[in-house]
Amino acid sequence: MAEAPSGLAGVGPQPCLVVDQLGFAWPSGQTALNHCSFSIPRPGLWMLVGGNGSGKSTLLRLIAGLLEPARGRLLRPLKPALVFQNPDHQLLLPSCGSDVELSLPAGLSRSQRLSSVEQVLAQVGLADFRQRPIHSLSGGQKQRLAIAGALASRAQLLLLDEPTALLDENSQREVLSLIRDLCRRAEAPISALWITHRLEELDWCDGAALMERGSIGPWQNGGDLRRRLSPLAGGKG
Ligand SMILES: Nc1ncnc2c1ncn2[C@@H]1O[C@H](COP(=O)(O)OP(=O)(O)OP(=O)(O)O)[C@@H](O)[C@H]1O
Ligand SMILES: [Mg+2]
Repeated sequence: MAEAPSGLAGVGPQPCLVVDQLGFAWPSGQTALNHCSFSIPRPGLWMLVGGNGSGKSTLLRLIAGLLEPARGRLLRPLKPALVFQNPDHQLLLPSCGSDVELSLPAGLSRSQRLSSVEQVLAQVGLADFRQRPIHSLSGGQKQRLAIAGALASRAQLLLLDEPTALLDENSQREVLSLIRDLCRRAEAPISALWITHRLEELDWCDGAALMERGSIGPWQNGGDLRRRLSPLAGGKG
């Protein structure tokens, strides 16, 4: 396994993310995060698993800045972007190119916008899709388009909330290998924090942790965690 994320001790000089004793309760009084601490010291694909209601989605929303923590500290030097389970909830415009263009930073010329759109579409395996209507895409292609939007926004920390839950196995593998490749590319590798209930995905990550009752356990090898969580399935997830 690559160098694992850690507790706060041992964090390098420029970690990708530090979550320090984070606490959050919903207005209903429901505690979602409880003394939640971890760090990601370098780019990579890091996965979180945990039962329903353990606080995973709330954690991603806090990291994305959509919610304010009640307690604790967040150090987030990289620009984050959320990718949801259902890409239909995040794709807004009718064509692939126009949707990606919506996420580009302001201040680019027309030709810069066009070449940025072409570039990010190619990065997610959708070269030549600029004019394609979004309704004609498969579920996996839509999810890759949502990732293209995140890249277009210049995000360096992708927060993926069960991004393959609605996909078949082939599309699941395409999205997994896309994100892993983006995290491993030589130039400007991104970091990804990926929530999953599909335990076989743990084999793809650089490190994984179990979330329970609003806090995160120790980071470990993804395959080891998969075998621990699925002993009756013969380790197949
Ligand atoms: N919008 C909301 N308003 C009130 N309570 C919420 C809201 N969203 C989540 N909660 C509560 O916060 C707790 C954590 O929920 P969260 O959605 O973060 O869990 P999760 O680990 O993502 O679960 P799942 O695996 O089912 O997606 C739960 O008790 C949930 O009921
Ligand atoms: Mg969730």
